[in-house]
Amino acid sequence: MDISIVGVGHVGLVTAAVFADLGHRVVGLDSDTAKLATLEAGGVPFHEPGLPELLERVTDSGALTFTADMEEAVQHGDVVFVCVGTPPLPGGGPDLRYVEAVGQQVARFADRELVLVEKSTVPANTGARLSQVIERERNALGRDHLLIHVASNPEFLREGVAVEDTARPDRIVYGTSSEFARDRLREVYAPMVAQVGCPVVETDVPTAELIKHASNAFLATRLSFINAVANICDRVGADVELVAEGMGHDARIGHSFLRAGIGYGGSCFPKDVDAFIHLAGQVGYDFALLEEVRRINEAQRGVVLDVLRSELWHLQGKTITILGAAFKPGTDDLREAPGLHLARALLDEGAHVRISDPVALPAVAEEFPELERIDDALEACRGAHAAVIATEWEEFASLDPSAIAKALDYPILVDGRNCIDPDAAAEAGLHYHGIGRGHLKV
Ligand SMILES: NC(=O)c1ccc[n+]([C@@H]2O[C@H](COP(=O)([O-])OP(=O)(O)OC[C@H]3O[C@@H](n4cnc5c(N)ncnc54)[C@H](O)[C@@H]3O)[C@@H](O)[C@H]2O)c1
Repeated sequence: MDISIVGVGHVGLVTAAVFADLGHRVVGLDSDTAKLATLEAGGVPFHEPGLPELLERVTDSGALTFTADMEEAVQHGDVVFVCVGTPPLPGGGPDLRYVEAVGQQVARFADRELVLVEKSTVPANTGARLSQVIERERNALGRDHLLIHVASNPEFLREGVAVEDTARPDRIVYGTSSEFARDRLREVYAPMVAQVGCPVVETDVPTAELIKHASNAFLATRLSFINAVANICDRVGADVELVAEGMGHDARIGHSFLRAGIGYGGSCFPKDVDAFIHLAGQVGYDFALLEEVRRINEAQRGVVLDVLRSELWHLQGKTITILGAAFKPGTDDLREAPGLHLARALLDEGAHVRISDPVALPAVAEEFPELERIDDALEACRGAHAAVIATEWEEFASLDPSAIAKALDYPILVDGRNCIDPDAAAEAGLHYHGIGRGHLKV
């Protein structure tokens, strides 16, 4: 099929490449001309394992091309996917102006029947708003708005494994009230469903939109739940890792998203939890459960600060090394990264902050030039008063605890991701503090 992808960021670029690899003819468009120039020169604008190889294959074959011309992009696609950002607004709701702008442009340039698909994460009833925008624009142009069919097709990929998640999803969800749109979406996904055999959930538009927010809010709830349990574990001398293991063997519970730590971050969970709370408020429901999920998540960073204060008395003039800038392993995405929230709090208390990360330091240099950046993790620990693991990169999990102890001035390690063996750390002479491992002094 002929497919257009508007917004070739973390979601759009991977989606474009995977669709092209399935045999579709794909055109990718972005308003960021620097990003397009990088792509056209054969580069990849962000770190995502497997993406450079896939992009090379589909651009070399001509299955995926890029353009900055919206008219060209709209006129190429039988199906136009909106993959632009929906960043948070101060009031908690998402900023939908980029989605609206794409709707207006598609309405302006569409010269035949097509499907406009929201892949960006949007609140329930955004589809109805998009249809309204399209109708108004088309009426103003004296053209038939019924030629543009709106659908929702939320995306569930995880950064760091985005190529695999997109090519082999757990499920495909799309919603529309238009038979034309449903048939086109079936065609788009037919080769993937044939290859992977994943379930397809066909719904109406608001249901598909809500599935995305409910999914992310539920995952965030699991994380805040286990973090709350971790805080109890610290107070009673229990180990949350074993508590989670014991819980997870129950088939009704399962093991995933039960890893205690310094809280979730990234471009999705914090924003989507806020957006879901905001939507609930707009429709007259007080989603207090999710407010508590958010509060627990934000408080989790304070747990690390409390440990550092208790170990170091005060933080003024102390050097603290943060291992991990990316919000999770496998990406250089810094959006809402817990390690960077922690870095800011430490700077506010007068500490000197060093940071190490296997791939995200160039992004840190651009966004947080005030942080000292050191590539090598042990070098970053050298002479520091304490180290904090903020991202569970394999490079940090596999560090020799004795080498960390030797490098640090004071042998204090806060393992914010529970990725180091506490016994090995203690044997190496480290004052080891995991999250919920009965080691925190509170
Ligand atoms: N990143 C994830 O893991 C993930 C997973 C699932 C869903 N989502 C959702 O997908 C959407 C996109 O997220 P992302 O992480 O890819 O964001 P991103 O910031 O990486 O990419 C968005 C892209 O859209 C472009 N853009 C913005 N306005 C535009 C316009 N008017 N015309 C053309 N291009 C425009 C930007 O330049 C950028 O390249 C968001 O709604 C997000 O919540 C993200």
